[in-house]
Amino acid sequence: MIFKTACKKDIPQLTKLRVEFLKEDFKNIADGDLEILEKNITKYFKKHLNKDAVSFIALDGKNIVATAMLLIIEKPANPNFVYGKVGSVHGVYTLPEYRRQGLALQLIKNLVTYSKENKIDRVELKASKMGAPVYEKAGFELEHDVHQPMVLSLEN
Ligand SMILES: CC(C)(COP(=O)(O)OP(=O)(O)OC[C@H]1O[C@@H](n2cnc3c(N)ncnc32)[C@H](O)[C@@H]1OP(=O)(O)O)[C@@H](O)C(=O)NCCC(=O)NCCS
Repeated sequence: MIFKTACKKDIPQLTKLRVEFLKEDFKNIADGDLEILEKNITKYFKKHLNKDAVSFIALDGKNIVATAMLLIIEKPANPNFVYGKVGSVHGVYTLPEYRRQGLALQLIKNLVTYSKENKIDRVELKASKMGAPVYEKAGFELEHDVHQPMVLSLEN
């Protein structure tokens, strides 16, 4: 198994794996929506990969079998992120037949090392039930924040 960061030529495989991840995470996605998602995911990678998004991958031969993506978000600094750089983890996914072999954990460890080397002050994520034990093993903790997360979904 080879662990590395993805480059442009990996975009078709990264897109395919993200679609697989979304199908598993969201269960019922309409076929029409899947097509739109696939197009927009490819567009996203072309625009952001190795700029403000780094994709950590595990390769079995030429095939990507596990991924973890770090988005690097610049914010006005505050005491929690004095360099003003926050990492956000997305798309942590291992193909079913490769699970429980330590791949996701290794990718998250690589992502954390990269974050330290690049002066990212904190790394945030939202854990699925399956993902939480992996992140805990890598040192992540539940965040106790006085501020409550809120959202407004806009129909565009
Ligand atoms: C979650 C997921 C990425 C884990 O990938 P993985 O490569 O199998 O994880 P690892 O083998 O690195 O697991 C490392 C440790 O985490 C824990 N762990 C991993 N998966 C677990 C599970 N399903 N249940 C309980 N503990 C689990 C174990 O302690 C494991 O070590 P062990 O196998 O020696 O006991 C994978 O199951 C997956 O793709 N799930 C569907 C998508 C998803 O939920 N992604 C996370 C989004 S936040």
